[in-house]
Amino acid sequence: MTLSRYLVALGHGTRKEAERIVRQRRVTTAAGAVLRDTDAYVHHDVFVDGAPLDAPPGSVILLNKPVGYVCSLNDRPPMIYELLPANFPKRTPVMASIGRLDADTSGLLLVTDDGALNHLLASPKSHVPKRYAMTLAEALRGDESDVLASGTLMLKGETSPLLPAAFTATGERTADITISEGRYHQVRRMMAAIGNHVHTLQRVAIGPLALGDVAVGRWRLLGATEIHTLREAALAAKAGAKAEAKPPATA
Ligand code: URA
Repeated sequence: MTLSRYLVALGHGTRKEAERIVRQRRVTTAAGAVLRDTDAYVHHDVFVDGAPLDAPPGSVILLNKPVGYVCSLNDRPPMIYELLPANFPKRTPVMASIGRLDADTSGLLLVTDDGALNHLLASPKSHVPKRYAMTLAEALRGDESDVLASGTLMLKGETSPLLPAAFTATGERTADITISEGRYHQVRRMMAAIGNHVHTLQRVAIGPLALGDVAVGRWRLLGATEIHTLREAALAAKAGAKAEAKPPATA
């Protein structure tokens, strides 16, 4: 990508504005050499006014979303963008969350400008497993894991049963669940469907990626290997679901 396109992509204004900051000698390498050619391809770190640019195009950010923040522009603020670098909403393509978490749900949220990866992970055909930890209003009965693993449970107002989910009790009123779909308010509605109520819900993993020790409200950039592993896991989950959906071959 050329220097001017790179600056525009990372939210440094229009092409003209990007060209102006280059002319003003404000764009440098990490070592401080002034970059003058807006048409030159970028193969190195770029600094503006002495500060490194935000995450380069194709980045994936792992945010530990706090309760109370919304992912969608259509919802009532505060938005997750308040927790991210100020340039993010101005970037082209936009840095968007991969799927959503409810305002009341905390934990692992991925944000990227990689539209293909976003689609791969967030489309209804994506069956990459997502793990949640929850606290519940009612004590567990003991039959939850069988009911949720059955593949027959229906959510209110829906016409197709839920895919099997792996439910593990971790205490009298606490549990982990792994689901491989992304229906609206899915975990809360699943627990309501079996007569309980979710008090707190935190996403702790997506495929091979765990929340780890990222503090609430903070984020980190995923490394190239993590992105590769995530993409591979999503592709494998999609291929597995497709194979299962195929009717068995007749002899
Ligand atoms: N299930 C829910 O109920 N809420 C979320 O945010 C994610 C999964």
